[in-house]
Amino acid sequence: MLREKFGNFEMNKEDRVLTREELLKNVKGRDAVLCLLTDKIDAEIFEAAGKQCKIFSNYAVGFNNIDVAEASKRGVMVTNTPGVLTDATSDLAIALMFACARRLVEADAFMRAGKFKGWGPMLLIGQDITGKTLGIIGAGRIGSSVATKMAKGFGMKILYNDMFKNEALEKETGARQVDIDTLLKESDFVSVHVNLTPETTHLIGEKQFGMMKPNCVFINTSRGSVVDEKALVNACKSNKIFGAGLDVYENEPALAPGLAELPNVCIPPHVASATFWTRTRMAEIAAQNLIDALSGKIPAFCVNKDQLKK
Ligand code: DGY
Repeated sequence: MLREKFGNFEMNKEDRVLTREELLKNVKGRDAVLCLLTDKIDAEIFEAAGKQCKIFSNYAVGFNNIDVAEASKRGVMVTNTPGVLTDATSDLAIALMFACARRLVEADAFMRAGKFKGWGPMLLIGQDITGKTLGIIGAGRIGSSVATKMAKGFGMKILYNDMFKNEALEKETGARQVDIDTLLKESDFVSVHVNLTPETTHLIGEKQFGMMKPNCVFINTSRGSVVDEKALVNACKSNKIFGAGLDVYENEPALAPGLAELPNVCIPPHVASATFWTRTRMAEIAAQNLIDALSGKIPAFCVNKDQLKK
């Protein structure tokens, strides 16, 4: 798509994240940059790119890796790829709920280690899902999708916490909007779907884990820093909660000390949107955002169109 449209097009062919030095060198003189959520885009990068650079098109729905205020000040558009990854991400959040509630990581390791000596009444007892209460923190596209699938498919009761009332979700699932403490105290499953902002950094920490039920399964597919990982490790280790399913981490790709040793966590490597269809659509949207910007239009998914300095 981009190659057809633009002659002077260059792509990172390395199957790894670019170093800061490589990023600084490679953005130099570009009119447009398509970046990944692993690329930290800040004033230094905008400066290195130069004044002619019109857009940083992020290949992700989340854009906490980009200093949007700085981009706006410089008149640089920032775009993302919303919508197309809603189902893939909500599907993975649900997969994590099942994996943790039914102890699939432990069960699989148990089997492979040759420990299965026969059926037992108490072998790998887990938690029920059907009919239980699911607390959704952040009832936007992805949170609402998890809630709807679990209410309709598994008869779960839905509680949600969001600054906005989600009437469509309430109508479709009977969801109830509650304050965050009520949600934490009453839910059997808590799933987090907020954007990472200064206000949501460490939204879930020791105090919040302390409010959850001992049978609670905690899920995070949003951004790692929404959770205080040290507190999460302690909560899972001391069985304050039943377990946790995480797809995102505070210091990716590093894991919090002790996390990987816990039997009651399921920890895939930030792959919620990793399906063939979704990643292809994300690429097409990221490319289209970039083409629109270079054609003098405001792309459909420009997150700072109202703040852009003219
Ligand atoms: C996103 O798009 O923000 C996701 O985290 C990518 O999987």
